[in-house]
Amino acid sequence: MQFLRYPEIVGPALSGRRTGENFRSLRRPTIQTMPKTIDHPPDLPIVAAASDDFLAIAALDRDSWTDSPDDPFVADGEHVWKIWCEQALVFVAKGDGGTVVGAALAFPVLDGSFCLHKIMIAPDHRGRGLGSRLMNAILDALDGLKKACFLTVDPKNSAAIRLYQKRGFVIARTLRDYYGAAKDRHIMTRDPGSAGALPPR
Ligand SMILES: CC(C)(COP(=O)(O)OP(=O)(O)OC[C@H]1O[C@@H](n2cnc3c(N)ncnc32)[C@H](O)[C@@H]1OP(=O)(O)O)[C@@H](O)C(=O)NCCC(=O)NCCS
Repeated sequence: MQFLRYPEIVGPALSGRRTGENFRSLRRPTIQTMPKTIDHPPDLPIVAAASDDFLAIAALDRDSWTDSPDDPFVADGEHVWKIWCEQALVFVAKGDGGTVVGAALAFPVLDGSFCLHKIMIAPDHRGRGLGSRLMNAILDALDGLKKACFLTVDPKNSAAIRLYQKRGFVIARTLRDYYGAAKDRHIMTRDPGSAGALPPR
């Protein structure tokens, strides 16, 4: 069975059976080359997510979409967050007592690039730079891997689009009715190392 579609992401293949534990140990060498804590004192730490963070991240995912609380397309569930915490790039912002107050995720796709699928900050922690720092952490990791990435975003989400454009994402195209009638999405792409050019407000 072919588990390691992207061996350059997870490190050299192990011989023998590829258990979940083996996967975690495969991924560690790459992850540990990244800074565990982003240097931005005295603010909250940004760290690579642990496997056990999946429940807290899924809960945050349900609470973060204040502009579309009833949208069935938005929140991802515990099962896939568990996998992502172990197999993808997931960074979290941790508040008092280790509470997860922000998370960002990028996972690899078939062409070898990454999908930057989610970035979300708990509503009462927004506007304090956490989203920027989480985005910087995940893009530093992707730059370290020399990986291009893409994301999709609601064209009305100007705060998020600004965050992305400032870091090198460009709008590649807009897909009309992507999630259904009037649910359009911008596709934004970024090459590794792109610093970004921000258009005027
Ligand atoms: C988008 C989001 C992640 C930003 O996180 P944040 O911690 O509030 O962002 P920051 O404080 O780092 O600010 C990032 C930039 O957005 C701007 N911004 C923040 N909130 C904004 C708002 N409500 N309206 C307009 N701009 C806003 C900031 O001014 C800043 O721009 P600057 O760097 O030019 O100064 C957060 O608002 C969020 O979780 N939203 C809900 C989930 C979501 O929409 N995710 C993105 C789609 S996947």
